[in-house]
Amino acid sequence: MIQLAGRNALVTGAGRGIGREIALTLAKAGANVGVCDLDEATAQSTAAEVQALGRSAKALRCDVSKASDIAEMVSAFSATFPTLDILVNNAGITRDGLIVRMKEEDWDLVLAINLKSAFLCCKEVARLMMKARTGKIVNIASVVGIMGNAGQANYSASKAGLIGLTKTLAREFASRNIQVNAVAPGFIQTAMTEKLSPQDKEKLASQIPMQRLGMPLDVANAVLFLASGLADYITGQVIPVDGGLVM
Ligand SMILES: NC(=O)c1ccc[n+]([C@@H]2O[C@H](COP(=O)([O-])OP(=O)(O)OC[C@H]3O[C@@H](n4cnc5c(N)ncnc54)[C@H](O)[C@@H]3O)[C@@H](O)[C@H]2O)c1
Repeated sequence: MIQLAGRNALVTGAGRGIGREIALTLAKAGANVGVCDLDEATAQSTAAEVQALGRSAKALRCDVSKASDIAEMVSAFSATFPTLDILVNNAGITRDGLIVRMKEEDWDLVLAINLKSAFLCCKEVARLMMKARTGKIVNIASVVGIMGNAGQANYSASKAGLIGLTKTLAREFASRNIQVNAVAPGFIQTAMTEKLSPQDKEKLASQIPMQRLGMPLDVANAVLFLASGLADYITGQVIPVDGGLVM
């Protein structure tokens, strides 16, 4: 069994969906969790769920697209937890549309929340991890960052960028014993995919070799592995969790 007892993790976008499941899965393995979300109420409810599992938790309201918010969040995290062992950059949004109709502000917003956020969080957290000479960073990308998707120019560019950032930081931090990897979910049942019509969901499922959408726990289990000592010799990798969609 994977053991994270005594480790302290920071998960962004952990108020609901995949981020919430990651926070709970890390907590079940023994980790304490800083639960970051733009929505303070949901951050608090996930933090309460982590505490109910017997771990320490702190709800951290933060807009991950803002450097000042991230600096404040990491300092609030450090005031509660003595180390920051695991960072999961999960917060993300979609603003879909074909490129000819895509507004510039929708491009900027998606790039800021999905990609710049990870740059800012990694930069802030790297100082602590480099000092400790240990750490795990897991970035939540997407299969569309690998294969593209019509109607998601902004989103797929942000996720492809996240994969480039993952590989570069893996190289920069390798000598400091900090491993940086990405998980690329396929289509997972959350509020993000709730917007799709039943017909669209059926069409999507028919393209997946396993013929169904995934669950948040499928993604969280991959993150748990990458955040654990079992993945100490794995860095710079992108693990698709997609029922075989990309292979
Ligand atoms: N659901 C899928 O099919 C799918 C597939 C591939 C990748 N992903 C990725 O997984 C991650 C989580 O997706 P989800 O489906 O759970 O989405 P979700 O919309 O259910 O949850 C996203 C969470 O991020 C938070 N958030 C949004 N903007 C924020 C900001 N500026 N600062 C801090 N928090 C913010 C939201 O409040 C929310 O709690 C995202 O990065 C998404 O791109 C999801």
